[in-house]
Amino acid sequence: MDGNGRWATRRFLPRVAGHKQGVEALRRCVKACADRGVGVLTVFAFSSENWNRPVEEVSGLMELMVGALGREVPRLRDDGVRLHFIGERGGLSEKMIAGLVQAEAATAHNTRLVFNVCFNYGGRWDIARAAAQLAARGEALTEANLDRAMALAHVPDPDLFIRTGGEQRLSNFLLWQSAYAELFFSDKLWPEFDEAALDEAIAAFRRRERRFGQTSAQLASSAQQPRQLA
Ligand code: IPE
Ligand code: MG
Repeated sequence: MDGNGRWATRRFLPRVAGHKQGVEALRRCVKACADRGVGVLTVFAFSSENWNRPVEEVSGLMELMVGALGREVPRLRDDGVRLHFIGERGGLSEKMIAGLVQAEAATAHNTRLVFNVCFNYGGRWDIARAAAQLAARGEALTEANLDRAMALAHVPDPDLFIRTGGEQRLSNFLLWQSAYAELFFSDKLWPEFDEAALDEAIAAFRRRERRFGQTSAQLASSAQQPRQLA
């Protein structure tokens, strides 16, 4: 979800106002995904590297998160959304951690949409943490074991990876899991990413041929079902 700061700056507003608008865009996106039958939505809300931003922006983002937890969770619960918070919890405030735990518990029975919020997350952090866990347990560092130890082991690998804001990079998001994700880069700033923009990304995804290492001819000859959009 990139582009909140630019959205605000263009309007002569403080950057935090852009993040606030970003929460609105996210609420809309969650609903749009659920309405379209998307099974899993994973968003990058705060990266391990975002601590390097100016203190007032970091504290603004923390406040926004705590506020959003209080305000949004009852609606998400009623809409069938199951929340998971992915990331390093050490370094977060007691209040925030309590909010995350409570939100996960309150929505644990939901099945309509799995909504993973990556907060204080980094793809490298996830891989290193999974490897350390396996090492501590004396387990082999195999792909299958790493997969199971990863923070997103409860969901399949992403099919579609969307980055807004015009940049074309992964910025340490879902490094392990995105091995075969279709990448979609949108020039829209995140606060402007609406239902039409989501539909455009999904339409682009549908036009891609997903070969997973095979050839086109092999795909055409096999009776393989097309993979579902997770
Ligand atoms: C949101 O967009 C990303 C977060 C860390 C919440 P940015 O804050 O990176 O916006 P730009 O790139 O400065 O426009
Ligand atoms: Mg940015």
